[in-house]
Amino acid sequence: MTELNELYRCKICGNIVEVVGSGFGELVCCGKPMEKIEAAKEETMYEKHLPVLVKTENDKYLIRVGSVEHPMTEEHYIMFIEAVSKDGKYLKRVFLNPKEKPELDLECVCRHFKAREFCNIHGLYEAELSKEKAD
Ligand SMILES: [Fe+2]
Repeated sequence: MTELNELYRCKICGNIVEVVGSGFGELVCCGKPMEKIEAAKEETMYEKHLPVLVKTENDKYLIRVGSVEHPMTEEHYIMFIEAVSKDGKYLKRVFLNPKEKPELDLECVCRHFKAREFCNIHGLYEAELSKEKAD
């Protein structure tokens, strides 16, 4: 069974899909079952991938990818960043291209939320963030 917001990838063609309504069926692409994409569990590349929340000078908030900025080259870049409220009702996402800044502004998302980002090479990273804890 799939769940809301899960991501799946086709190992053959590279399609990535997100579940926007859960069901019992198996997701299939190119004639094969799709692989569920899990968030990274190892902390080894967290400094360049884990979403962090930053309060800007004008009292706005940004999600940045990594405490050390992630590369944004043609070969290695962040494909998207998103924030989802705790109840799952509100989502804000930005799709990125190489050379763009790996950031998402958060004007209209709740105080506590889950953030995640997807690196085209290293995969999915997620973090629970709170505006109270932003610096
Ligand atoms: Fe990466």
